[in-house]
Amino acid sequence: MRIKGEISLPGDKSISHRALMFASLTDDECVINNISTGEDVESTRKCLEKCGIHSIKSGNTVRINGGSFSNPREPLNCGNSGTTVRLLAGLLVGQGVTAELVGDESLSNRPMNRIIDPLSEMGVEIESNNGFLPLKIKPNKVIGISFVPSISSAQVKSCIMLAGLGANGQTVINENVKTRDHTEIILKEMGAPVSSNGAISINPISEPLQSFDITVPGDPSTAAFFAAAAALIPNSSITIKNVLANPTRIGFFQVLKKMGGGVEWRNMRMECGESVGDVHVYWEPLNGIDITSELVPSVIDELPIIAVLATQADGPTTVSGAEELRVKECDRIKAVCENMQAMGGDIIEKNDGFIINQSNILHNTNIKTYGDHRIAMSFNIAGLLTDDRNTLDDEGCINISFPEFNNVLTQVMA
Ligand code: S3P
Repeated sequence: MRIKGEISLPGDKSISHRALMFASLTDDECVINNISTGEDVESTRKCLEKCGIHSIKSGNTVRINGGSFSNPREPLNCGNSGTTVRLLAGLLVGQGVTAELVGDESLSNRPMNRIIDPLSEMGVEIESNNGFLPLKIKPNKVIGISFVPSISSAQVKSCIMLAGLGANGQTVINENVKTRDHTEIILKEMGAPVSSNGAISINPISEPLQSFDITVPGDPSTAAFFAAAAALIPNSSITIKNVLANPTRIGFFQVLKKMGGGVEWRNMRMECGESVGDVHVYWEPLNGIDITSELVPSVIDELPIIAVLATQADGPTTVSGAEELRVKECDRIKAVCENMQAMGGDIIEKNDGFIINQSNILHNTNIKTYGDHRIAMSFNIAGLLTDDRNTLDDEGCINISFPEFNNVLTQVMA
């Protein structure tokens, strides 16, 4: 068996969430084509609907009307989605909306103090369950702050930027390590008073932003699974078309290249302020590398599949400075180590990452996904390295980001 073919993927999840949320700041209809098909983005759309921001979904296109928000009559269910809860909290307080935000069991165990603290400093009244969901937000009078996040997180940065759009005075954010910058890019494209030359500054908006009609580029975090499959299986090659190539998001492809894998970007272009290209990935022998904290934000969602790649490298791969993995949809350090060991892999767990040694002979097993879509897809791909395939204790969690995963994988397995 080898991986062969040419595919295109549904739109990037981070941009899809933002396009929906930012459309609410216009006073016209916005059109979002090739929107992410995952359940997370639907959570955002449904929450906005409950706040009076109406949309119609037809196939992979959403038409959404900006305008005035209303206070939701019931709690907003953010499902499994950290991006929904954290960005929505900032958007709603900036727009004067009082709301309660809830989520599923995984989201209810994820830390919210990272947004509660700076939002409180901005004058927002927030009640939480000791730093966890449910969150009750009451905007009061929001004031601009100067903020240096102690955690590198695009969700936290975006939350504060969105609150800043409705604040009194300027908000300035200084990131230690640059995180994905789609919020800055899209808001600037919409004419918002946002600048980002090193420090990010946000001034309040006094009139509606420009409406848009966009096609969301393919999700590079989803592309990573198919690229990894091609990089793991000898004689494979795959072309993934129209992939988002924003420099803050292509860390996986840089890592794969550094590991010796074949990676070529073609047909590069700019679309709506974002870099987009076709990526061609082919099998070459892999070597181990060290991934340290400066690189972590650009591969944060891809570290589980990088761990799978590392099993086939001819030397150790170390991942450090990645303690954030412990507070994702599940504790991804534990989930990766446990499942890799169950497959016979040589992996050592660290507080802030792991060390993987060459593990040429892996065997199939039943994977504990912990309901985490990226663990499920990573270990589905890892199963391609075994005589049989892995089974998953929860196939359904893949729908969180990419319901078409199994169909596309079958399509490229020659
Ligand atoms: C996201 C940011 C990242 C990432 C998540 C999506 C975003 O989280 O893990 O899947 O869209 O802003 P953090 O910013 O908390 O690291």
